Amino acid sequence: MLDLLIQNATLPDGRSAMCVAVQDGKITEVRPGMRAPARETLDAGGMLLSSPFVDAHFHMDATLSYGLPRVNQSGTLLEGIALWGELKPLLTQEALMERALAYCDWAVAKGLLAIRTHVDVCDPRLLAVEALLEVKKRVAPYLDMQLVAFPQDGVLRGPQGAQQHLDSVKRALDKGVDVVGGIPHFERTMADGALSVKLLCELAAQRGLMVDMHCDESDDPLSRHVETLAFETQRLGLQGRVTGSHLTSMHSMDNYYVGKLVALMAEAQLDVVANPLVNITLQGRHDTYPKRRGMTRVPELLAAGINVAFGHDCVMDPWYSLGCGDMLEVAHMGLHVAQMTSQAAMRQCFDAVTRNPARILGLPGYGLEAGCSADFVLLQARDPVEAIRLRATRLKVFKRGKLIAASPAANSTLHLPGRPAQTGFMN
Ligand code: FE2
Repeated sequence: MLDLLIQNATLPDGRSAMCVAVQDGKITEVRPGMRAPARETLDAGGMLLSSPFVDAHFHMDATLSYGLPRVNQSGTLLEGIALWGELKPLLTQEALMERALAYCDWAVAKGLLAIRTHVDVCDPRLLAVEALLEVKKRVAPYLDMQLVAFPQDGVLRGPQGAQQHLDSVKRALDKGVDVVGGIPHFERTMADGALSVKLLCELAAQRGLMVDMHCDESDDPLSRHVETLAFETQRLGLQGRVTGSHLTSMHSMDNYYVGKLVALMAEAQLDVVANPLVNITLQGRHDTYPKRRGMTRVPELLAAGINVAFGHDCVMDPWYSLGCGDMLEVAHMGLHVAQMTSQAAMRQCFDAVTRNPARILGLPGYGLEAGCSADFVLLQARDPVEAIRLRATRLKVFKRGKLIAASPAANSTLHLPGRPAQTGFMN
């Protein structure tokens, strides 16, 4: 007997009236018209059944700290950085864990079951590292977390010299952090930025780890560290294991140079994460009019065969006062900012918060095929485009075939003068 049989589901690839059979936490079969005894049978009613949402770029050490010790009055990146500096000495492990665990609850309710989070390693106590490693352990039964050792203040800019933060990155990796991070555009000089990319990629190569750098999060068209990242990836044989996050300077670069750069990135098999909500609010702030959008060139990167994901980056922290862990909101903003309004491009935006980030994290068993883990979310929408349009209700969220979250269907009741009262899913 099956553990679970879902019937009459629409899948993101467009197949409808599909059945998904689950046994021992795994999908055993996906096909239409299946009838088999099961402990639980669920009629999806033609709604969209998707693999879970995945966020390839987040900062869980700062999340839900909005208002601590004060709110970002100007809403700018610079005040955000200053605010994070004020908050850091006040952080306690308990409070940080409490906020991170609360965010994980929000995430699960929104069908977001895998998160790659950067963790600031510039605090010599590595307090956030310890806290998030513990959170990772606690949420493991229902949420996959991957940690990136992120030298927020610059890996070569330690107050006690160039070795200080590099040592912190190594100590964090020793403790079990998964991925090597960096922030080359924030180093003191272009040369130091390039050196930081070289040192951090060499560290990843020595330890057999992945790399994910905050790279060129700037409106400066001459911020070209992604070129070095692609070069080091090839030199060290790290193809397919390196991610460039943000890459906002690519928005402002000269088109001729970008033509060369995108080919180099594709050759190095770089993955890319754009963060539409945060990029559209923080970039272009020194412009008058016209104002640049400041998100990297997503459609062009996809057209070159590069894997691109949309990340949330921040939720209610010093840099971003909004957000709720809803990756459909992220896809919605990405679609608008990149003008990805063709039928195919809107579907790509759904992929950018599901299968593309899953590939970046290297999630084993991700997908809606026989043999994959029985992790999925039933959405109150008939296809991926409608899911984005409505930021659709997550009717049910499953992990290894077990229901872990549910929300009531969105309904409205209308009482219009001269019309009979009407209740239903109105959109
Ligand atoms: Fe970030």
